[in-house]
Parts: sequence; C-alpha cells; structure tokens
Amino acid sequence: YCSYLVEKDRKYVCEVLCNGLSRLEYRGYDSAGIGIDGDTPTSPIILFKEVGKVAALRKHIAEGIPTPAPSPDNVAVNGSAKHVDMSKVFLSQTSMAHTRWATHGVPNPLNCHPHVSDPMTEFSLVHNGIITNYKELKQVLQKRGYVFYTDTDTEAVVVLCKYVWDSQPHRRLSFTELIKAVLKELEGSFAFVFKSTHFPDEILACRRGSPLLIGVKTDRKLKVDFVDVELATDERIVDEHPNGLLAVPPGAAERVGPHGAKLRRSQSRAFLSDDGMPQPIEFFVASDASAVIEHTKRVLYLEDDDIAHISEGELHIHRLRRDDNISSVRAIEHLEIELAEIMKGRYDHFMQKEIYEQPESVVNTMRGRVNFDSRTIMLGGLKVYLPVIRRCRRLIFVACGTSYHSCIAARPVFEELTDIPVAVELASDFLDRRTPVFRDDVGIFVSQSGETADTILAMRYCLERGALCLGVVNAVGSTLSRETHSGVHINAGPEIGVASTKAYTSQYVALVMIAVQLSDDSIKKTARREQIIDGLHDIPEQIKKVLHMDKALQQLAKDMLSHEKSLLIMGRGYQYATCLEGALKIKEVSYMHSEGASLSCKRILAGELKHGPLALVDEHLPVIFIMTRDSLYPKVQSALAQVMARKGRPIILCNEDDLSIPESAKVIRVPKTVDCLQGLINVIPLQLLSYHLAVMNGVDVDFPRNLAKSVTTE
Ligand code: F6R
Repeated sequence: YCSYLVEKDRKYVCEVLCNGLSRLEYRGYDSAGIGIDGDTPTSPIILFKEVGKVAALRKHIAEGIPTPAPSPDNVAVNGSAKHVDMSKVFLSQTSMAHTRWATHGVPNPLNCHPHVSDPMTEFSLVHNGIITNYKELKQVLQKRGYVFYTDTDTEAVVVLCKYVWDSQPHRRLSFTELIKAVLKELEGSFAFVFKSTHFPDEILACRRGSPLLIGVKTDRKLKVDFVDVELATDERIVDEHPNGLLAVPPGAAERVGPHGAKLRRSQSRAFLSDDGMPQPIEFFVASDASAVIEHTKRVLYLEDDDIAHISEGELHIHRLRRDDNISSVRAIEHLEIELAEIMKGRYDHFMQKEIYEQPESVVNTMRGRVNFDSRTIMLGGLKVYLPVIRRCRRLIFVACGTSYHSCIAARPVFEELTDIPVAVELASDFLDRRTPVFRDDVGIFVSQSGETADTILAMRYCLERGALCLGVVNAVGSTLSRETHSGVHINAGPEIGVASTKAYTSQYVALVMIAVQLSDDSIKKTARREQIIDGLHDIPEQIKKVLHMDKALQQLAKDMLSHEKSLLIMGRGYQYATCLEGALKIKEVSYMHSEGASLSCKRILAGELKHGPLALVDEHLPVIFIMTRDSLYPKVQSALAQVMARKGRPIILCNEDDLSIPESAKVIRVPKTVDCLQGLINVIPLQLLSYHLAVMNGVDVDFPRNLAKSVTTE
C-alpha cells in the first residue's frame, strides 16, 4: 500500500492491509505479517507477525506490541517493541503485508514475511514465489559477513539489497537501479514489493513468474488510462564479481551506461491531474485483484520483468531488460467483476481453477530440483538419507484417498528403478492390520494436507518401530511435515476444492522424482532415467494440450454420462491408478456410482470381467477404457472386445495417433509420453469429466456433501 497526500492514521493502513490479506488467505494461511512506517521517514519499519490465520494477526496488531526485527541478541531495535501509537497520522505512507504458504522453513514468526535485511530494517520486502539459487546467494553473502536469521529463500534477496547498497561507494543508486541489480542475480519465480528506509515513501514492485497487479485510487481525472513503460537502458550499475556475485565498479556512482551515456530519467509520468497539481492518490499492489477490489476497480497488471516504482504519487514502470516482443504500454483496466468471482479468477469453481493450474503446479513441483540440461534430479531433503533408503528392506507407502492413488501410480517406477520391494498401504487398513514394520523399513507418507489422522497415526506407528519416515506433503509446517524425519514438499500451492486434483499430479511427479534420484547410483538405469526426465520436461505443455479439449469433454459428459447411474473405468498396469483416481473423482463430486477396475493380470482379467464387472455390462453401461499405448495395450484391447461383444458403450482414452480404435467408439485422444508418466496426462480428462458431471448434476462442486478437505479424525 502506498499513499500520497492522503491523511490517514496507522490504524487505517493496518485495516487496509489486513482486509487485503483476508482476501488472499485462500492462497496460503500458515502465517501472516505486516510492515508499516516507523515514526520518522528513516526509522526502522514496524513489524507485526503471527503464525496462523489473518485473524490472529489482527489480534496481535490490536494489542499494539510489534514483533522485533531479528537481531543477533534478538532484542528489539530502536524501541520498536514498545507499544505502537496507532492513531499517529501520516500524509504519505508505504506499508506491506503478506500471507504465507510456506515453501522453505516452517511457519514461525521468523520465517514469516515481511523480511528485513538487518536489525535496522534498511531494506524490507514481501515475496510470493520461490528463489531457486538462494543457497548460493546466501553462501556468498555469509562469506562477506552478512547474517541470516531465517530458513527462507526470501531472506537472501533482502540481504542482497543491503549488500548492493553497502557496495556502492557514494550511495547514489536510485531505488530502481538498486533493485534492477538485485533482480539480475535471481533465479526462480517471484512477485516482490520492496521498501527501504533509504528511500522513504517509495515502493518498488516487480514480478517474474508470479502474478502482480497495481490498483489505483484517486479522484484525479486521469489524463490517460495507461502507463508508458520505460524500456531498459543497458546500464551496468554493477559488474560481475569473479565469485559470481555483484560488485559495484568505481564508476557506478556516476550512473553512466557502458557507452558513457547518462541514464535516461523516466519520462513515463502517469496520473497527473489536468492542471498538473499534486492530488491525493493511493496505490494497492497485490497478487490478485480480490485484495484491491474493495478500494478500486482500476487495475494495471504487471508483466514479467516489469519494475514498478511508486513515489510522490507517481507510478513509473521500468523494464529489467529490453524485450521488443513486450508492449511498452500497460493499460489501466476497469474491473467489472465482483469479489467472489475474482478469487476464482475466470473460473466458476476452485476445483476447475485447480485443474487448470496443473501445467504450472507440476512445474513448481520440479522447480529447482530437476536439471533438464544435465538430466539429473536433486531433492535436498532426501540427500543425506539416500544411502539408508537404498539399503532398506522395503519401501512402505502409506496414504488415503487420492494420495493413496498417487502412490499406486508411482509404485511401478519405484520397483523398476530401485529394485526395492514396495508396499502401498491405505493408512486405515495398515493400522487395522497392525502391519509388521521393522527398523530397516522406510515409510513414505503422502498427504496433501499433512493433517489426515490415519496417515499421521500410521507414521507414528512406524516411528515407534524405528523405521525411517519420509513425508511427501503439500502443506509446509503440517503435522506430517514436522514429525517425519525428512521429505519432499510438493509445492502445488493451496488446494481449496475438496476434490483433490493438482495435488494428485504434483504428488505423482514428486514420487517419480524420488524414484529417479534413488536410482542415480545405477549406471545401467541411466538411459531410463534420462528418458523419464525428458518426459517430465514436456508434461506441462502436454497437460495444457489436454485442457484445450475441455469443451469436447463437457459435451461428452452431457451426451454419454449425465443421465447414467453407473460408470466403469478400466485399465491396467500404469493406468490402474488412473482408473481408481478417475472413479473416485466421479463419485465424489458428481455422486454417480463409478468403479475403477484393475485388469492387472491375466487371472484377474478373466475373473473380474467375466464374473464381476462384465455382469454389469449392457447397452446402457458406459465403460471408459484407458488404452494409451504401452506394453499392456493388447490385453486392454481384448477386454474392450469383450465389452463391445456385449453391446457395452465404451469411451476410449487413447493416444493421438492411435489408428486401431473401433470406429463406433467414442474417443478421447491425448498426447503420448513415457509409459510411467502417461497417468499424469490421462487423469486430466477424467478430472474434467467429473467436474462437468458435477456441474450438470447441480452439486456444490467445491464442497460435496459429507466430505471435508482435511480428514483430521480416524
Ligand atoms: C479426494 C480427496 C481425498 C484425500 C484424502 C487424503 O479427492 O481429496 O481422498 O486425498 O482425504 O487427504 P490428504 O492428501 O490431505 O492426506
């Protein structure tokens, strides 16, 4: 939040920020914090941080005792732990807030944003995204004497700001120049808001990969409803340091470009009133419009590598580097939609939004872990445990519901790559049987929420028996991620729809990554590992391709499924998990009875089909066959023939180029990938079908009856 000539007290600003956070809480809610102006323009910012929901933060602010900035002796600096005068009025204010969904470091006040560069809070920031080279940055900065207090990736960025500032002899860099220098060092995804006691009343906002927009509220008659972007000059404020980090060359203070030209001042002034006189104005920077809509409907969306500088009531947008493909004009849009709609973006339901997020969420699962150039995978949390896991007697996967299905999906690739016996267990059944567990077993507990009671109990059961316990969890800081010895966060982002969709694909990807990493000591498996990593590279684009078939799938749901009471989904081998997960999605949100049938070996194929499912087959029963090409294709073909011979109504999910599908069948064609990854693609049409069936049946899609997002009781 950044205001100019708006006479308001601190209480008002805190209210604006907390309301904005509440709107964004659906994106993450393990901790929240705000940073507001100190008493004078150069005094340290005042922080309030709280673990838990925004409501807890509001309470903390109402009590008025701030959270001290971290310092070596952890005592409050500059009296900031004193009671804050909330009625103090400012003419301009810059302040920031953040609600966190932890990716690095458990939820606690230290890891909570805003982060600061030092006890005097010379620089502070909030961050959405993941900085993948933070460890390298942190190492170099620590060598230069900078102190770190948190476990987050974000802290490396704010300390880097201070380093760049400290490194320039005459302190003549503008805020924008300084942040440009910092951004050039970063890898990963981000949306940032920066604030600094060296640049009071200024805000810097920038993004790459994570969304960011600016809402503008003013009574001024805008002369234009766009902002001209200042294209980057080729200035080099800092040189490459031989150690890989920035160093400011002596000439930097002159602020000259490589060709000796004086840097251009921004000419892109926006929001001037007709008579050119300054007028009150407020800016709201946020990850999505839900946080700003109650203040203004005029918003401007930033593009990747835009750097927005707000100062003295003006907004200037600079580019990190020149890119002729990106327009140099940012339009100010007038939002017509209402709040509830915005939170779901352009989607009608969270489930639909989360299905559509999958090209991005699977990338987030792989980000910083898969190196597609060297074709290697490194999961930091497992590194020290690799020798123990490789020597273990048995891998026991334990989970419930959809998470259990992701384990079934990944089982074949574990067996193939690691040669370790694998058991996949439903947490409740595992406990009911009091399954024997030994010290040399390794338990892998898979859960979106990390709070599912049965899975937690199963984990504790294994811990008691001395097994190594690993978590594959979405919610950082959850019970499972805290109590396991180590593990992997899937980084899919918050999942709100009760029916799990993006968590499934991210769990699947994470598990495949673990299997690949476990086998990287085996030379004879190199070719297969590389094939899988190449396959992972293409998965996001292939998922996008399937999402483009949405309209056709909606029609298929309407024509063939919406009036039916029952549905069978059949497949085998790698696709067994797809059948189970597809059937679960359909019954869960559309209330239609559906079964996923395994055709997993010859005996079961004959038995299941002839005496079980085949008895159901008639001209009414729709049967979805998962028939993408792999070594078991001929066997699924024969099951299809049996169903067709009984006038069944098959819907065939096959690869795009498969010419051997009977013409009379309804077909869903999907891109081909490596056999063990094909389930990631095949599950998408089933998710979409279940979503459309739910809508057609009038089900409250995000909250189906009798179900809860997190099952915290046995
Ligand atoms: C189905 C679904 C549930 C969960 C199950 C486990 O769409 O969401 O079956 O998968 O309750 O939950 P987590 O993964 O949180 O342990």
